[in-house]
Parts: sequence; structure tokens; C-alpha cells
Amino acid sequence: MKICTSVTDFVKSREESGKSVGFVPTMGALHAGHESLVRKSVEENETTVASIYVNPTQFDNQNDLAAYPETLEQDQRIFESLGVDLLLIPTFEQMYPDGFRYQVLETEFARNLCGAHRDGHFTGVLTIVMKLLNIVRPNRAYFGEKDYQQYLLIRDMVDTFFMDVEIVPCSIVRESDGLALSSRNLNLDPCARKTAPIIHELINSSATDREISDRLAEAGFDVDYVETRDGRRFVAAKVGENPVVRLIDNVAVAS
Ligand code: PAF
Repeated sequence: MKICTSVTDFVKSREESGKSVGFVPTMGALHAGHESLVRKSVEENETTVASIYVNPTQFDNQNDLAAYPETLEQDQRIFESLGVDLLLIPTFEQMYPDGFRYQVLETEFARNLCGAHRDGHFTGVLTIVMKLLNIVRPNRAYFGEKDYQQYLLIRDMVDTFFMDVEIVPCSIVRESDGLALSSRNLNLDPCARKTAPIIHELINSSATDREISDRLAEAGFDVDYVETRDGRRFVAAKVGENPVVRLIDNVAVAS
């Protein structure tokens, strides 16, 4: 696996071999969910490129950014063992030569669900994903359905800007107790980790959004939202102290 820490070098050496390219963008702290994206990319493409970049512009909360787990050496080993051909690990200066003056803004859906609670989050996500896609120029890019709103916004951005890439959604990977895998789970203290699977249990039940929200609050969560829309039930709730961990999840519901 080749590791590239310079966007300029990456662009210079970008292969024009005609081989299909799959791309898995990540913020590192890899778990089995990321691994499933890489496996799919390796299966469906001749070359797989991955990236690790903790994108500061998508964090509305500096404590969340500071607490974001970092496991770089382990991540490199995982990518290598899964067959990633090229790993891009850029710096802020390389990704934001404009200092974030140019931004990709979606003005409706990005203000709902997570966007209503994380100011500017999706502008940061869409901007970095557009940049990464323009650098890597993949045929396909892989995103986990745990961040379902993110997946929909990226899919529609690509259509809107006539970008020539297929956005491939990948199913949520869960712990045996139902907790959706997330890099942030590493920050759950033992008590919060024990409570966390109730999120999945409740959103899979026949309870109403209101009832689920109340039950989560009773269990000690600080609930951002529980909302059913377009055949899917979405939830975001914070748990634990020092650090507070924000968990999100979603399931398809019969409409
Ligand atoms: O889902 C993530 O890990 C991030 O939002 C992404 C897509 C890598 C952009 O920073």
C-alpha cells in the first residue's frame, strides 16, 4: 500500500491507467463498519483508494473535535491488510488552500435532523467530500448508512453538480447488542456503553417517536431528535460525561 501525505503528489501521480477506482473516505479510528466499505470497494473495483482526514470544518463543537479518537498506525495496518492500494493522509493546509472561503451549501435538508443541532456540519462535510472526490476522481465512492442523512446529501450533491461518480451506500454494521458501530463508541465510558444499545432497541420497536424520545430521556440520554420521515426513523442523542458522546442511528420503517 502506498501512503501519500501530499495532495499535490497524489494528483501528479494519479494513475490514468483506465483501471476502475473505488474510494473510501474516512476520519480514521477504523471499525468493522469502515472495513465493510473497504471490502466492497476492493470487490467492485480494480484499485481502491482510502483517505484519513479528520475534517475540522464539520465539527461544530471544539470539544468533540479534540476528543475525536485517533488510531493512525492501527488504521494503516487495517487498510493494508484489506487490500487498499493507496492511502491519502492530507493536511489542513493542503485541503483548504482557501482557508474555507469556498463552501458547498445545501439549504434545505442540511438544516434538518443533525443539521438542526450541528451548525454548519453538513457544509463542512459536503465541502470536504467534493474536494476529496475531485482529487481522487473515483468511479465509485462508499459511504455508511449510519450517517444516512450524510449519504443522501452527498448522493444529491453529486447529481446536482453533474459529478461523474457513483455513490454507494453500505449497510450499518452493529455490535451483537445492536449498537451501531461508530468511531465515537471508543469514547463511551462503561456505564454509557451499557445503556447505548437501548437506542437501537427502541427505534426498532412499535413505540412512537415521542415515546422513544421520552424513554431515552428516562434512560439518561440528552435527546437531540427522534424523527420518522420518508420511511426511515432517525435518532441522535448524547450520553456520558467527559467526554459527552453523541450517538446517531436510523432504521427503515414500514410506511
Ligand atoms: O463519515 C465520515 O467519516 C466523514 O463525514 C467523511 C465522509 C469522511 C467526511 O469527512
